[in-house]
Amino acid sequence: MLILGIESSCDETGIALYDDQYDQLTQTIYTQALLHANYGGVVPEIASRDHIRHIIPLLQSCLYKANKTIDVIDIIAYTAGPGLSGALLVSAGFAEALAMVLKIPLIPINHLEAHLLSALHVIPKPTFPLIALLVSGGHTQFFKVEDIGCYQLIGETLDDAAGEAFDKVAKLLDLPYPGGAKLSELAKLGNPNRFLLPRPLYQSKQLMMSFAGLKTAAANLIRTLAPLDETTCHDICCAFQQAVVDVLVQKAKQALEKYQITQLIVAGGVCLNYALRDALSHLASKENWQIYYPPIDLCSDNGGMVALAGAINQKNLKQAGSFAVYPRWRLGEPIPLTHSIT
Ligand code: KG4
Ligand code: ZN
Repeated sequence: MLILGIESSCDETGIALYDDQYDQLTQTIYTQALLHANYGGVVPEIASRDHIRHIIPLLQSCLYKANKTIDVIDIIAYTAGPGLSGALLVSAGFAEALAMVLKIPLIPINHLEAHLLSALHVIPKPTFPLIALLVSGGHTQFFKVEDIGCYQLIGETLDDAAGEAFDKVAKLLDLPYPGGAKLSELAKLGNPNRFLLPRPLYQSKQLMMSFAGLKTAAANLIRTLAPLDETTCHDICCAFQQAVVDVLVQKAKQALEKYQITQLIVAGGVCLNYALRDALSHLASKENWQIYYPPIDLCSDNGGMVALAGAINQKNLKQAGSFAVYPRWRLGEPIPLTHSIT
């Protein structure tokens, strides 16, 4: 079966072809980061228009790379939510039109499920039950996963997502957008003992998290010390990153202990963070837990994870013609028809 995956929920346009018979994944991706850099964040209207510009050339180059022709695609999987509605509509519209022309079925994919399932595309594979930490620009959530499709939300941030907090603090430090990865790079140069920032809800027994107060504490520190010299900037990056990592690791530990599960998968853009990986590895070897991450090219938003999710979710096939996206589709809940745009 050849599955086309299409992703355009935020500021990456991703196309992939997955041949499930040979486990062969080919992808092309375009990031709009430079386009939004002037604004310091994603501008939804610009994002939608740019997805439209890139989606067809990306499909063409993906077909070329995979040495396939369009007529051999069997199924189209596309991100139907959550995400920016205009951006989602590009994938959905493109997928519907293509499915109609090629006379093939579609699968609407939840973006968060695609992140989560991408962590199963590793050897050895994690087994169920497991705990999943989804940590991205828009979400920071823990799920208890009994099986594919059985996702129980057990904890989440009450305000900002971890990636969002990284990006906002990076912006306050005048780092180029998107700042999360850059902040993390500069943190390597910082002194971990100079500043101590708060770890919100660290002591709480609940699996809820909060990053807005930490972000405000970082903002106050930056304001108090302005203008910042380079060393101070690095030290703040280090203190901020350490606070986020400490909270995520503590909540992961609580989640695994509470549900007596020994396997954790971590997915979403922030799973690229080296400090988070180091701290989780340390914990895992101490407790004899296993931690799994998606392959590096499936960590940030991409079409590959959508194609893989399509291969796994073939029971959800639908015919073209019921064009809809779900900007607030929560993983673990049914498709929220009340929020659909049809
Ligand atoms: O999953 P993703 O690509 O998109 C969303 O679904 O949101 O995640 C993007 C987020 C951004 O906030 C970005 O700054 C953050 O992941 N990110 C990082 C790192 N690489 C990407 N945050 C911390 N450290 C990193 N190395
Ligand atoms: Zn994402």
